[in-house]
Amino acid sequence: MPKDWFEWHALYQSETLLQQRLQIVQGYIATALDAQPAGTIQVVSACAGDGRDLLGTLTTHPRKADVRARLVELNPHLVEQGRSALAEAGLTEEIEFWQGDATLSDHYAGVVPADLVIVCGIFGNLADEAALQQLIGNLKFLTKPGAFVPWTRGNRGDIIYSDIARRNFEAANFDEVEFRLTATGDMGVGLHRYRGETSPLPKNEHWFVFSGTPDRAVEP
Ligand SMILES: C[S@@+](CC[C@H](N)C(=O)[O-])C[C@H]1O[C@@H](n2cnc3c(N)ncnc32)[C@H](O)[C@@H]1O
Repeated sequence: MPKDWFEWHALYQSETLLQQRLQIVQGYIATALDAQPAGTIQVVSACAGDGRDLLGTLTTHPRKADVRARLVELNPHLVEQGRSALAEAGLTEEIEFWQGDATLSDHYAGVVPADLVIVCGIFGNLADEAALQQLIGNLKFLTKPGAFVPWTRGNRGDIIYSDIARRNFEAANFDEVEFRLTATGDMGVGLHRYRGETSPLPKNEHWFVFSGTPDRAVEP
């Protein structure tokens, strides 16, 4: 069991589940970028880790130069790792790693509403369905009409948590673009598209509550 979120990221080297999940997420990000009209594409990622989902996609994506992104992540080592990857990719002007609390609305000021809002690796760290409903309902502060939202949710035991997420997206004005389970069968990965209107970003409010402590490793 990894001791913190930095160590958790090292599991990408060995865990088939995480590798398959990443591959699907990167495919969804590419789908979202492919769908964008000419011009700047605004992206935000909450609890971004080291940003490998977005950065890995951009390496080969033709819209790479159009992307402007803010990746909000609390763990300083992951932010550092992400910034190194940005420098290697030559994207330091276009993409910023923002070290801060992703649950706090202020950290998105000036970069939302966005065309693509990445919320991967979060849903399994929420207390209950009410917390999930709060997060999905508040995506209206971050999303443009038509914005894409890739997400992940592990399934365990008899409860299909990813279906609960899908139901909540439907109720919050999102259309399902794609949904897949990893080949391991226990990780749901979805891509939804917002059909509602943007709501103004509130000042200094927590738009969701991350229940896993930032330095504690819990299941993805
Ligand atoms: C399961 S990992 C997912 C990372 C990445 N999104 C991915 O899918 O690879 C959860 C991430 O949330 C970060 N995190 C936890 N609480 C946070 C908070 N309040 N604000 C920003 N990041 C947070 C952790 O440091 C960790 O990198």
